[in-house]
Amino acid sequence: MNSSSTTDLKVAFLGTGSMNGAILRGLLASGFDPDRVIATCRSEESANALRNQVPVTVVASETDGQANAKAVKRAGVVVLGVKPKGIQALAAEISQALEKGAIVVSVAAAVTTGMIEAQLRAGQPVVRAMPNTPSQVGMGVTSISAGRGTGPADMKRVADLLKSTGFVTQVPEDQVNAVAAVSGSGPAYAFYLAEIMAAAGQQLGLDADLARVLAAKTVAGAGRMLDAPEVDPGVLRKAVTSPNGTTEAAIRVFDDADMRGIMARAAQAASERAEEITRELGGA
Ligand SMILES: NC(=O)c1ccc[n+]([C@@H]2O[C@H](COP(=O)([O-])OP(=O)(O)OC[C@H]3O[C@@H](n4cnc5c(N)ncnc54)[C@H](OP(=O)(O)O)[C@@H]3O)[C@@H](O)[C@H]2O)c1
Repeated sequence: MNSSSTTDLKVAFLGTGSMNGAILRGLLASGFDPDRVIATCRSEESANALRNQVPVTVVASETDGQANAKAVKRAGVVVLGVKPKGIQALAAEISQALEKGAIVVSVAAAVTTGMIEAQLRAGQPVVRAMPNTPSQVGMGVTSISAGRGTGPADMKRVADLLKSTGFVTQVPEDQVNAVAAVSGSGPAYAFYLAEIMAAAGQQLGLDADLARVLAAKTVAGAGRMLDAPEVDPGVLRKAVTSPNGTTEAAIRVFDDADMRGIMARAAQAASERAEEITRELGGA
């Protein structure tokens, strides 16, 4: 494969559920040619649902047992998006069909580049990505880590492709679990915050729908304010926390309940669970 830019690559998404679907939508929204994309799902039901959402070819592996192997033909980048326990089998399934030099990108938590490389032909470049679902609205955060045979040009090609879905940064692979605990799982933390803010609003007597809209739009608006270069969340928080005011009274309750400690323990739990899954899948 000798593609000079990301625009002349075909991209194959294998296992196109929440995460790969989010990247796919972000990519298309940025103007990527849908004719250069192919996607697979397991079931015909999921394939149909995806076909109704995006104008790309979608094939179900339960309908065509060769769907994944066919999809990687003439693909310069192949993005694996099945659950962690299915990644190694999927890599083995496509190994002989991959173009020489095609970059295999895995978005799976807990599956190391070494575990994927072991299923592929020697020298096939592998990139481990840790994206998050805001990729579908162009506000994703993705880290990428290089496998053993993956050079700077491969990393640049993947970074250029993923930049259409938001912010991309390169990290050593031993930091991926920490990245996953902050930004991979992070959207769920923000959604959880919106959920419990709405519940608190209801407890104060607000109508359920109003409380939900107030909480969701507030988290979304605050998120938009955070999306600036060099932004410091602490500075933004202090700017809306007048001494002796109502917000300060609320923040004091968080501090008294050790919110920082709770978040640290939550992130630690996410990271440890990733290590545990790696071991369950036979990785080191
Ligand atoms: N969700 C997140 O926020 C997030 C963040 C970072 C990383 N990740 C990683 O992303 C990966 C996928 O997670 P997800 O939440 O997107 O899961 P998901 O929504 O269940 O998506 C998995 C997809 O894979 C398809 N699939 C399963 N086996 C297949 C096969 N043999 N061939 C082709 N397609 C197959 C499924 O099809 P069916 O629907 O037909 O079964 C489904 O479309 C995981 O490894 C996870 O660690 C997720």
